[in-house]
Amino acid sequence: MFSKDLFQESKKFIPGGVSSPVRAFEPYPFFVKKAKSGSKNIYDVDGNKYIDHCLAYGPLILGHADPKVVREVSNQLTIGSAYGAPTENEIILAKEVVDRIPSAEMVRFVNSGGEATMSAIRLARGFTGKDKIIKFDGAYHGAHDYTLVKGEPGKSCVPDTKGIPLDTAKNTYSVPFNDEEALSDLIQKDGDNIACLIMEVVMGNIGCIEPKKGFLEFVRKITEENNILLIFDEVITGFRLSRGGAQEYYGVTPDLTTMGKIVGGGLPMGAFAGKKRNNGINST
Ligand SMILES: Cc1ncc(COP(=O)(O)O)c(C=O)c1O
Repeated sequence: MFSKDLFQESKKFIPGGVSSPVRAFEPYPFFVKKAKSGSKNIYDVDGNKYIDHCLAYGPLILGHADPKVVREVSNQLTIGSAYGAPTENEIILAKEVVDRIPSAEMVRFVNSGGEATMSAIRLARGFTGKDKIIKFDGAYHGAHDYTLVKGEPGKSCVPDTKGIPLDTAKNTYSVPFNDEEALSDLIQKDGDNIACLIMEVVMGNIGCIEPKKGFLEFVRKITEENNILLIFDEVITGFRLSRGGAQEYYGVTPDLTTMGKIVGGGLPMGAFAGKKRNNGINST
């Protein structure tokens, strides 16, 4: 079947015909048949061959079907893929993350980038004993209720989609990126109730917007001074902007870092990492 026909068929079983809204294109998306090792060869069912600049939206930094990844994953499959018990490989991977990410001393592995950000936010809330969080306008941190919200500076957020309770959304504030005044005003107003600020260090989901000079230092200082944990969501930047991610590149370290499929060689998983002890920020 061609992409056009597969899309019609898909819509009978999958809402909208795709498993994520970003995959929906008019009049229909191309359906992939296969990809070969590297980035240059992705083929659709219609007989076209493309250079893949998207690479699964980032995690396939080694390209498709990297021989080393294929070999390791294939070997593992022959001895089982899930045990519900710890393995030595987890320690090896955790050490690798700690070695690379400047602020990481301990790591928890999860199933996706969204689960990583959700868990990091929960950890920050538990640690500080505060409920509210701050995100930046346009940032995407996964499809969970904490951050799938929208708002105006200084006001509590409202749900960005149906199904998210208003009571959940109102615990999140959203402020414009690179706007020191808006952030400072908000923290002055309600900092005592804010557990964490979560941010994409480079805004990857609304284009590619870098933090302006001094902004990260400002964010680091104002969060530290107000007992607000700083979370760098490095799902896009981790291990790519530099070996140690955006925090190494810009020289500013957060309290918690979140990562996505990049830690799984492109396979669905995630991780969040932080310090063994707090960094002068008070816990409850
Ligand atoms: C910055 C950022 N954080 C979190 C996520 C969610 O990751 P996942 O799709 O693995 O749940 C994404 C996904 O695109 C992302 O771009």
